[in-house]
Amino acid sequence: MAAAQVGSTEHHEREPLPDDVAGPLFIPVVLGSIREGRRSYHPAKLLAERVEAKGHRTQLVDLRELVLPMYDERDETNSHPNVVAFQQLMQRSDASIWLSPEYNHAYTSVIKNAIDFLHGEIRRKPIGACGLASGVGGGIRASEALKVALIELHAVPIRESVHFGEARTIFDADGTLLKPEFIRRIDHFIAELDWYARALKWGRHHVPIPERPRG
Ligand SMILES: Cc1cc2nc3c(=O)[nH]c(=O)nc-3n(C[C@H](O)[C@H](O)[C@H](O)COP(=O)(O)O)c2cc1C
Repeated sequence: MAAAQVGSTEHHEREPLPDDVAGPLFIPVVLGSIREGRRSYHPAKLLAERVEAKGHRTQLVDLRELVLPMYDERDETNSHPNVVAFQQLMQRSDASIWLSPEYNHAYTSVIKNAIDFLHGEIRRKPIGACGLASGVGGGIRASEALKVALIELHAVPIRESVHFGEARTIFDADGTLLKPEFIRRIDHFIAELDWYARALKWGRHHVPIPERPRG
């Protein structure tokens, strides 16, 4: 048989995954919309449900419920129980999904505030950044900007995202999904995140991290 070309999509026989990266992952979903009447809640819940359907563990980190103080670097803020709970949860994660609506061509301020409390918790872990908007763009400017911010934490945002465009048409008022094609899109997105989560978990366990040069 001819050797596979670089970039080929041909599937190869692979070694079984080592124990430390096989098995279910912990993939929390951070919901960055706290607005009265928000449309992002049902999409975030669906993302979490699909993570579970794929055999992983998840938690919906609803920033409306987990109220974080404004980041100001004071000791009492840094040791706030909700801040510590958020940091510990992200530390336990293998990957995370962040859903932000688009507000003024950006992701929301509650998401930025949450990010500023993180240090090494999501370092070298993959991130799936998703967007939502009333327009057809589906919050793509928010999700792309979110990826750039998360890179600064040494997180690894993946290419795939789910964009919930024309948000009012996706769920009815009771939270019933009206557009079943989103299941296929979300499942593919989770499969990509799963691949990066296992590859980077293996890497964090086995590959030395380069030292930063001084000066
Ligand atoms: C403050 C604010 C700014 C917005 N800016 C944008 C925008 O820049 N682009 C866009 O497509 N939609 C924008 N929208 C519309 C939102 O996409 C829409 O309201 C969406 O439902 C927001 O998500 P949420 O319901 O979870 O808050 C904005 C909405 C708000 C409240």
